[in-house]
Amino acid sequence: MDIRALAPEDLDAAYDLRVRAFGPGDQAGWLRHCRLAVRRGEVLGVYDGDRLVASGRYHRFEQWWHGRAVPMGGVASVYVAPEERGRGIGRRLAQGLLEFMDGLPLTALYPATAPVYRSAGYEHAGAQHFVTVPAEALRTLATGPVKVRRAGPGDAPEIVGVLRRMHAEARDNGPIDRGEDWFRELLDGDDVFAYLADDGFLAYGWSADGRDLVVHRCVAGSAETARALWALVGSGSSVARSVRACVAPDDPLFWLLRDRSAEDVRRVSWMLRVLDAPAAVAARGFPAGLSAEVPLTITDEARPGNAGAWRLSVDGGRGTLTRTDDAPDALRLPARALAALYAGVPLTRLRRSGLAEGDASTDAILDAAFGGTPYMLDYF
Ligand SMILES: CC(C)(COP(=O)(O)OP(=O)(O)OC[C@H]1O[C@@H](n2cnc3c(N)ncnc32)[C@H](O)[C@@H]1OP(=O)(O)O)[C@@H](O)C(=O)NCCC(=O)NCCS
Repeated sequence: MDIRALAPEDLDAAYDLRVRAFGPGDQAGWLRHCRLAVRRGEVLGVYDGDRLVASGRYHRFEQWWHGRAVPMGGVASVYVAPEERGRGIGRRLAQGLLEFMDGLPLTALYPATAPVYRSAGYEHAGAQHFVTVPAEALRTLATGPVKVRRAGPGDAPEIVGVLRRMHAEARDNGPIDRGEDWFRELLDGDDVFAYLADDGFLAYGWSADGRDLVVHRCVAGSAETARALWALVGSGSSVARSVRACVAPDDPLFWLLRDRSAEDVRRVSWMLRVLDAPAAVAARGFPAGLSAEVPLTITDEARPGNAGAWRLSVDGGRGTLTRTDDAPDALRLPARALAALYAGVPLTRLRRSGLAEGDASTDAILDAAFGGTPYMLDYF
């Protein structure tokens, strides 16, 4: 078996693997996007001689961590030919993708099944949350006039600018930045309705069966704008019974709603992996006002550059990881624990799940440094 960048002439073979894994879809659209990704060197193939037996790719995103955008490789379209499954190829592909993304500090993915990714050092980190609420409960949220305007493909730069400002100000953890081109394409069709306010953005549409409304994104920097954008969606309550919305787990909507008794929340979990520990620490934000020095030891066979004894320093909202002498009693974190800690999972949980061990005296400081509730508003 040989793992190498997918050759452009193997795109049809990759599409065949995709259909066998996920069923038929928009072949022309998939080929168009994948051809660009192949050209950018973001698609990996596993070959048995010249025969493609598995494939996987990554997207170049930025992901917000405590209000700073960190480059992240979003892994997707992972599939092994049905006749080759169960022989370790998925595992080798996941490892190969780690090397393929060399240079990026982080990688994340939505797992269809976790074991193959855990073996490559990924761990559950956050989720995409969907809440279903009665449309009428949204209609009545409006309190006063807020200037909102329709947004189209030409507004992509302003949309991205507003979202970046909102996520930075909220010190958000988890949401991804897909860039202007993605919004330009999203708003080019006629099925997503988008609105902009000075401090907010809304994108929504109809569900596939035309019965309910679906909110892809509603981000607002003030209660007035949040009320105005949610009420705009709710104004459809004479036709749509309910609204299914992708939100943060602690979205302001939950505190705006008069009653939460009818809410129904569903989670789709995503996993994170730290590819380059010093770069991932340097790129993210940390709580201003927190000043700490913590020794820790990372074990990471797949990414030896992460392994060893480190000192984490946090000060002035920034962090650094510097090499230090081995401290046998220090906190010990395997790659999966490092990913979960980075995503704000408290150390007591990591210890009680057997992922972390060693000195516990700095647990509270590390929890304060990394704490958060990561979420995403996008599936990829
Ligand atoms: C998921 C998939 C990529 C795994 O590939 P594979 O070559 O069969 O995986 P491996 O043989 O390397 O197995 C790796 C681990 O994953 C586990 N695994 C594989 N398929 C699994 C499944 N469907 N459910 C649960 N665990 C699974 C294996 O048991 C193994 O774990 P173990 O070593 O602890 O026993 C492959 O089954 C596939 O292409 N499925 C359809 C598409 C898909 O689901 N892609 C993933 C999208 S995120």
